[in-house]
Amino acid sequence: MNRPVVKTGVIGHPIAHSKSPIIHSYWIEKYGLSGSYEAFDIAPQALKKGVSALLDQGISGFNVTVPHKIAIMGLCDVLSPEALAIGAVNTISVQNGKLLGTNSDAFGFIENLNQNAPPDWSIKGKKALVLGAGGAALAVVYALIEAGALNVVVVNRTLDKAQDVCKKIGGNTDAASWDERDSLIKDADLIVNTTSLGMHGQPPLEIDLSPVSHALVSDIVYAPLMTDLLTQAQERGLPVVTGIGMLLHQARAGFALWHGIMPEVTPELETLVLS
Ligand code: ATR
Repeated sequence: MNRPVVKTGVIGHPIAHSKSPIIHSYWIEKYGLSGSYEAFDIAPQALKKGVSALLDQGISGFNVTVPHKIAIMGLCDVLSPEALAIGAVNTISVQNGKLLGTNSDAFGFIENLNQNAPPDWSIKGKKALVLGAGGAALAVVYALIEAGALNVVVVNRTLDKAQDVCKKIGGNTDAASWDERDSLIKDADLIVNTTSLGMHGQPPLEIDLSPVSHALVSDIVYAPLMTDLLTQAQERGLPVVTGIGMLLHQARAGFALWHGIMPEVTPELETLVLS
């Protein structure tokens, strides 16, 4: 007897650029599952109607990307602690017609760090410096505090936004202004760029790593994979973690919810997504 197809996908606008169909299709095939993962272009004003159409088609769950990550919260019946803390939903699981919303970016960030940092590296009891205070920073700061960081300093061009992130996440977090970044990095055990700076087509991230003695340096930008920040860190002999893993690891959470299997991030998948 044929197994029913587990229908999943991603909603966004635009959506053609999304790497999620490549990732999920790879896992569906790898684990021999009967499933589908499609990209659905839903305009902001059509969100409610679009989601309701997906439910009518019997969708089991879906990812949510720009510009719906906040608006979708209003359609969810249940929100996870991560979604509430970060203030955005990127993963939906449908159960008995109800929408359960969560956010897998924090999971993706910390899993990527743990899998690709030097052996035995842990954030527990360490100090982190996070550059940027957008949606990605909220997930990263949440993840670091949950994972036991001693302190997280959020540095941002707009200081108010850094203060907002600290207020939302709580824990041992401090906000600092952009100009302070060079003086703050020397105390950090982990430096993370969550801004768009250094991405193809964006201005460079201007930072001088010369005072840094031992920090792990990570970037959530993955185009290019080796950003100037990571190249500078590597030239100074500092360990680095690239950004592609956050995208790959965050996808695991949705896959596990929908198919009941926690999939693996393999070098083959990474190459496929970057090609
Ligand atoms: P996302 O939700 O993907 O994190 P975002 O909300 O647009 O994206 O956040 C982008 C981050 O990059 C912000 O922290 C932004 O700083 P501001 O809050 O001051 O806007 C930061 N950023 C973008 N361009 C920048 C620049 N030229 N210099 C410094 N920071 C910059």
